[in-house]
Amino acid sequence: MKRLFFLTLTFSILFFIYNNVLASPPDSAYLFSYSTLKNGGRNGLHFAWSLDKKHWFAIGPEHSFLKSDYGAWGSQKRMFDPYLFFGPDGSWHCVWKVNDKDATFAYASSRDLIRWKPQVYPQLDFYGNCLLPVISYNHDNKNYVVSWWSHKGGNEGYYEVSTPDFIHYYSVKELAKEAFLNDRFTVKINNVEERGTIHKVPWSVIEKLINHQKLVSFNQQLYHETTDQDPQRFAGLEKVNANITVNLEDSKSISDKMIGVFFEDINYAADGGLYAELVQNRGFEYSPDDKKGRDPNWNSFYAWHLIGEHAVFSIDTVNPVHPNNPHYAVLRIEKPGALLSNEGFNGIALKAGENYDFSMFARSTTDKKIKVFVRLTDPDGNVVGQTTVNVRSSKWKKISAVIRSEKDLDNGRLELVPQSAGSINLDMVSLFPQNTFKGRKNGLRADLAQLIADINPKFVRFPGGCVAHGDGLDNIYRWKNTIGPLEVRKPQRNIWNYHQSMGLGFYEYFQFCEDIGAEPIPIVAAGVPCQNSSCGGAGQQGGIPLSDMDAYIQDILDLIEWANGDKKTKWGRIRAEAGHPEPFNLKYLGIGNEDLISHVFEERFRLIYNAVKEKYPDIVVIGTVGPFSEGSDYERGWEFAKEIGLPMVDEHYYQPPGWFIHNQDFYDKYDRSGPKVYLGEYAAHLPGRPQNIETALAEALYLTALERNGDVVVMASYAPLLAKESNTQWNPDLIYFNNSEVKPTVGYYIQKLFGQNSGNLYYFSDVNLSDERESVRKRFAVSVVRDGVSNDLIVKMVNLLPAKIEVHLKINGLDEFSSKASCIILAGHPDDTNARPQEKEITVSNNFDHLLPAYSFTVIRIPEIYIKN
Ligand code: AHR
Repeated sequence: MKRLFFLTLTFSILFFIYNNVLASPPDSAYLFSYSTLKNGGRNGLHFAWSLDKKHWFAIGPEHSFLKSDYGAWGSQKRMFDPYLFFGPDGSWHCVWKVNDKDATFAYASSRDLIRWKPQVYPQLDFYGNCLLPVISYNHDNKNYVVSWWSHKGGNEGYYEVSTPDFIHYYSVKELAKEAFLNDRFTVKINNVEERGTIHKVPWSVIEKLINHQKLVSFNQQLYHETTDQDPQRFAGLEKVNANITVNLEDSKSISDKMIGVFFEDINYAADGGLYAELVQNRGFEYSPDDKKGRDPNWNSFYAWHLIGEHAVFSIDTVNPVHPNNPHYAVLRIEKPGALLSNEGFNGIALKAGENYDFSMFARSTTDKKIKVFVRLTDPDGNVVGQTTVNVRSSKWKKISAVIRSEKDLDNGRLELVPQSAGSINLDMVSLFPQNTFKGRKNGLRADLAQLIADINPKFVRFPGGCVAHGDGLDNIYRWKNTIGPLEVRKPQRNIWNYHQSMGLGFYEYFQFCEDIGAEPIPIVAAGVPCQNSSCGGAGQQGGIPLSDMDAYIQDILDLIEWANGDKKTKWGRIRAEAGHPEPFNLKYLGIGNEDLISHVFEERFRLIYNAVKEKYPDIVVIGTVGPFSEGSDYERGWEFAKEIGLPMVDEHYYQPPGWFIHNQDFYDKYDRSGPKVYLGEYAAHLPGRPQNIETALAEALYLTALERNGDVVVMASYAPLLAKESNTQWNPDLIYFNNSEVKPTVGYYIQKLFGQNSGNLYYFSDVNLSDERESVRKRFAVSVVRDGVSNDLIVKMVNLLPAKIEVHLKINGLDEFSSKASCIILAGHPDDTNARPQEKEITVSNNFDHLLPAYSFTVIRIPEIYIKN
């Protein structure tokens, strides 16, 4: 009873305080900053406030005002023991422990505790870890001092480091135990004890934090709206009338390069995917490191099988074909009968009547000629194609042959069957369909490449993504390793935990772009690896040493010369010798991929940018503004881009459909005189990550907004592009495939319809809906463009409502006309993954009606319009 009385009393006091605060705010209050161990310590910095330092109110419990970005995804990104300090510069400075092992702490600063600058993780010259970091300020020398306790491997001590700016640090000094002032406090929040720092602040500071948290949580509700709630949200809605007036005198020029593709080797997009090679691990270079040792079978033997007896299959590295490909197979045959079989990428797909180029490097080490049958078989060993080659040289020699398949097979094998005893070495064993895209040697899988070409992409961004900046410094993608004869190219670990043979290299990328009429947009790392790197410690804080940057920059300048230089230049000649005497006419170069915009990044980016600008002023350099549509990298990235006068930046965001619905005005507020935008990666993500009508229509809605903003957003590419079934690291993707089938998603058709129906002139229109609710208005969009080449007028309409829309479309400024137009409709239930566009002919005039089905995307293309003078 007594307990109940006290509980009620406490509750009444708290209630009184809270209500009084709401009614008449105090001048100041106490602010408590802390983190919790929930979610493995990944929930970041929290705040609570109090008027009396006894009763504390959490601001949105577990609301994160700042999250740690230190280290790799998954296991890291934790914040422990944050320490907040208000500096004489009027800024808040926060340090925290990142883990128990590394000799670093994390630091970030903010003016208002809401918007934070990019984080810094100083590399400190001492042995130990940084526990309980604390900040103070030395007014004499105007330096900040960070001190901490270190306890690692049996060693314990206290240390401090001084810094004028949290970028540059003096040497670490040892500190007496008594000199370490850990002034953290313990308070009770919601009955749980938390440790952190306390500051007295004006009430307005706390009010802003409370309002910010409320806004974030309100937006989260909007962004997580899904069509599942449509029956309630739109109960009773049967049909909407839309009066659309297109004003042909009200127009603006927009980019004619809006729709393109972003190709990254993720989800087996390259080897086993777009790159048409059928043999897996042809160079015997698979390495346990590719998967960080997690798969003991992932090694030089992977995908190869010795079948039969009296033979030994081993791997050697002595005197290889080329040092870049050190491993090769040794096949010792005591008695003929055994064979070496390659399973391909979960089978080899073969087509009856088609020819396949077989090749391998081989040498005989027993001083005699060995005849080898090369067979295409089904999994039971039934032969569907065969040829014979002879290994007679004791030196490495390339042997080539052509095999015709007699059958269609999804799961074929390649077999090498020596016909006599002896020992042979084999490397770069290849089986390539002659039927590649455009018949290119070492080319691309025809059906997949055609599907990409059908989007009519105006550009291709490659080779990543994360693949471009790599998992640690050693994994940065180096274009020079990917050109030249295949045996000379240098394979490497793929950041997505598999292997890149580099068979699909820069020459093939550029050739593909040319073949489909798309601008190549190669991306080079900005001298820093991925900030989420799991190799080499603190992610991208370890940039390429400045002493090595000249060589790195030279590689980038060489890339431009290789692409654009004439045959007389060093690198132009190398391109010409590879089969392309004419320049590739490179116009764009991306530097960086959604990097942490740290000072390490900025320093290296500037060096690269200045060198490119000086030598190749016509190249449009595309910078990067972090992985999200907001936050410190986005803000600092934009600031930096403006500071150095970048022509264009690359934005990335993967968001729920609700985000796209409620942010259609994202670019309407962008500065028209600043850098242009390339939206390099985006996709609508629903829980469970399907690619369905709901996600596709959210993307379509957003694409109409991009067209409206086509004066500032000049390019956009959905991500990722390709995914091999059963080998996906990321969902959703635009095109799924297996060895013999391609499976475009509904989102693919949105890209294709936009790509094939783009324009270079945007017409503004007025839209009046019979139902004026915001929820209705935001789920209907129209975009009217004209294609300057065909002179066609293209009307795109998105209906993300569960009801039909009767459109009355009036086109002001057209002479009276009546014409046939094509009308393509993609419609379906929101969770439909199989809907396909349907095309029909309709009659249109300058004032016509058209019915849009529920959940649909419609493109009406009116041929060759004439505008009134
Ligand atoms: O598109 C998949 C990945 O998403 C890209 O590699 C990276 O840039 C982004 O995080």
